[in-house]
Amino acid sequence: MESVKGKNILVVGATGGIGSKTAKLLAGSGANIFLASRNAEKLDLVAKEIGISAEKTFAVDISIPEQITALKENYFSVFPNLDILVNAAGIGIIKPVESLSGDEFLRTLNYNLYGPFLLVKAFLPAMKEAKKGLIINIPGVLGKVPMAGAAAYSASKFGLVGMMQSIREEIKRTDIRITNIFMGGVDSPFWDTIDLRVQREKMIQAEEAAKAIWFLCQQPVSGVVSEMVLQPFNHQAI
Ligand SMILES: NC(=O)c1ccc[n+]([C@@H]2O[C@H](COP(=O)([O-])OP(=O)(O)OC[C@H]3O[C@@H](n4cnc5c(N)ncnc54)[C@H](OP(=O)(O)O)[C@@H]3O)[C@@H](O)[C@H]2O)c1
Repeated sequence: MESVKGKNILVVGATGGIGSKTAKLLAGSGANIFLASRNAEKLDLVAKEIGISAEKTFAVDISIPEQITALKENYFSVFPNLDILVNAAGIGIIKPVESLSGDEFLRTLNYNLYGPFLLVKAFLPAMKEAKKGLIINIPGVLGKVPMAGAAAYSASKFGLVGMMQSIREEIKRTDIRITNIFMGGVDSPFWDTIDLRVQREKMIQAEEAAKAIWFLCQQPVSGVVSEMVLQPFNHQAI
């Protein structure tokens, strides 16, 4: 394992179930963490809990190019480089296609696919210059296998996988690594607005999901963990 002590890490979606626990674990291991997500108040709370100063937080909607530019400027005004980008932002709209609106479909693509595209556009050049870096995304298992009701979500997550795999081909002569994590159900606020019969107590705990990301951040550069699959035993209600 390679220590994350002193590494500069940007956690996007830092107020979420997985993102906040990941930021806490990484900060506890000595990494320098910069936190980003939309809600400034929630960001403030997470930063205070972890002991991160306000200058290392930035409220951003990752689907808005101008806000991504501002995030980039703020990040590089605090840290000189980016060792690891953890993208733990995303939304889940799970409903049958007949009741799925066009707006919901596009919002899902905007947050789960266009946002990650803008993040990569903004932060990959610095990694290319440094000729190293690690980008972690969480497509989840619905980026690999279909599920009824996941037309918008799976479209965004299959797209995310395809996009990151293509980008991986573009950078394969560098030491920049890309990891896609295919997680099953993780008990987090993600599920609060989803109308599906699931047993949250049987899901992966957000802290366990965060430990998987923490583990990935410590993999030696000589190898690439292209994919990780982490599933709960069974959380679908019978
Ligand atoms: N929970 C699961 O079962 C599960 C399984 C597989 C994959 N995943 C994926 O894992 C990631 C994290 O999920 P989670 O369970 O931690 O969900 P969560 O608790 O709902 O957190 C989602 C995070 O994304 C941020 N976010 C959403 N839209 C954003 C936008 N447009 N710009 C910036 N930030 C945005 C939210 O912050 P604000 O509200 O402050 O904007 C929040 O910090 C998501 O990509 C999700 O699809 C989750």
